[in-house]
Formats: sequence, structure tokens, C-alpha cells
Amino acid sequence: MIEHYPVLNKEVLQFFLPIKKGTIVDATVGGGGHSYLILKNLPDIKIVGIDKDEYALQKAHQKLSEFKNRFILVKDSFKNIDKILSDLGIKKVEGFLFDLGVSMFQLKTERGFSFQREEPLDMRMDTSQQLTAYDVVNFYPKPVLEKIIKEYGEEKFYKKIAYNIVEQRKKKKIQTTKELADIIYWSYPPSLRRGRIHPATRTFQAIRIEVNNELQEIKEGISKGIELLNKGGIIQVISFHSLEDRIVKNTFKEAKKLKKLEILTKKPITPGREEIENNPPSRSAKLRVGKRL
Ligand SMILES: C[S@@+](CC[C@H](N)C(=O)[O-])C[C@H]1O[C@@H](n2cnc3c(N)ncnc32)[C@H](O)[C@@H]1O
Repeated sequence: MIEHYPVLNKEVLQFFLPIKKGTIVDATVGGGGHSYLILKNLPDIKIVGIDKDEYALQKAHQKLSEFKNRFILVKDSFKNIDKILSDLGIKKVEGFLFDLGVSMFQLKTERGFSFQREEPLDMRMDTSQQLTAYDVVNFYPKPVLEKIIKEYGEEKFYKKIAYNIVEQRKKKKIQTTKELADIIYWSYPPSLRRGRIHPATRTFQAIRIEVNNELQEIKEGISKGIELLNKGGIIQVISFHSLEDRIVKNTFKEAKKLKKLEILTKKPITPGREEIENNPPSRSAKLRVGKRL
């Protein structure tokens, strides 16, 4: 059975513990792991759980069922958090959690997020959206592909990879994750093909970010989140790569300058050795926390 272990769960809970009542928004409810802990440990808190992914919401619903009328789940992007809350008649909340990126349910099922198996090129978190990884890979012009792989993947060999993708798709459309991963592999210099991380890692990250418009939505979601907090409210963001973390850091800094936010984590909190041993995907997690002024 696939499990998604909520990362830095003790730390996240610690920061929410002083909140005694009101609403916490779990903006990336996923399988409901963090929400479960919050509902269990804070008996007078209600949760609004958001996810773009219909399947994640089904999982969260099962996981949280024992808390009956203490949670509401909404299928939407967290970039629309202002509208979501106003539709629910909620003006302000006490807490926000953003646990960015993909869940194990997405990585381990055939959604095209992983280059470890042969799957159709998809990568949509919201399966009702039009744009897929197949469209990006097979139809984006070469300069746009280069830009995406360079900026969203921070990939050194972006030119060669984009060139090889375009050459390959002239012959036959690229259909699967494995086909794409192979093209990237062969685009790398031979001496670097067998490094610590697979050559496809960065390009897959880049295409996923493009398909799901991730960076833009993170910026919007967090900025709106800060505005929607009551005084003393807590916002927590867990990021998984440097591009996400930079956005979180800068958005917090801007809010601090405007005297809207006190930053509670001078340096981001990262998982300890034990957590990384038990849950290796947690190794790149970084938690930043702010308190509304
Ligand atoms: C790392 S998982 C969250 C796991 C969750 N904290 C748990 O304990 O089960 C991230 C989730 O955020 C969702 N997601 C990512 N970006 C989103 C966005 N812009 N709006 C809504 N959901 C988003 C993904 O679909 C995924 O289910």
C-alpha cells in the first residue's frame, strides 16, 4: 500500500500548538497526514483542506473521516485561497500550512511524474486541466524548452537536452517518461551519466513546474495566505528545492519589511537524521515559519 509520510510533522505541530481555536488552512492537504495530526492534537481547531488533485482529496477524506464535521475539503489551487475562504464565509484564519511539491500518491501511481518507470507523459496534479507534459515536450518551441529546463530545472545541459528532444520528436512523438528519461540520459556527457542523481531529475522537475504553473501559484498562495491570517496567526511552508525555497524566503522578507510578518525561523528547519533514515524523500525539505503581526 502506498503511504505518504508527512514531513517535519513534529515541528509543524509545535508551531501550531499555541493556536487553541479557529481555522487552520492546510493548503496542500494531500493524503491528509499533517491535517490528521493537527485535528488529533488541537481538538478545537477546524481545517480547510485544499488540493488540486481529486485523488488526493479522496485519500484525505478517508484519513480524516473520524473527525467528521471538523474539516472541509476543497478541490482548487491554493492560489485561489481568498475566493475559497470567502465562498465558505470565512474572513480570517489562525494558520496556514503549505507542504509543497508532489505526494507519494502522485509519484507512485501512473501519473507520469516518475522517470523510474514507463508511464505516459502526464505530470498534471489536477487531472481536469488541459496541459500535460506530453504537450510541453512535443509541442513547445525549442527556445521555450531551453528556458524552462534552464530556469526551472537549473540544468547545465539544457541546450543539448532541448536539442535532442526536438530532434527526436521530429521522427516520432515522445510518449513516455522512459523515452524522455533516455533522451536526457544520452544528452549528458558520458562521464556524468552515472552520478549521484539521475540525469533526468532536473529536467523532470522543470517540466512538472511548467505543467502545474507551480512557482507562480506558490508566490500567489503564500502572499494571499499572509493577508488572510489573523494577528498572531502562523504560516508554515515546507519546500523541496531551491527555487521554491527562494520564493518562500523572499515573500516572507517582503512581508517582514511591510511589518506584516515576524519570521520565526532565521534559518529553515530541516529534518534530522532519524527522519531522513525513516523517510528518505524528506531529505530536501525546508520549513520556514512566520507569525502575522
Ligand atoms: C507534499 S504533498 C502534501 C502531503 C500532505 N501534507 C500530507 O501530509 O499528506 C503536496 C500536495 O499539494 C498539492 N498541490 C501542489 N500544488 C498545489 C496548488 N497550487 N494548489 C493546490 N494543491 C496543490 C499536490 O497535489 C499534493 O497533493
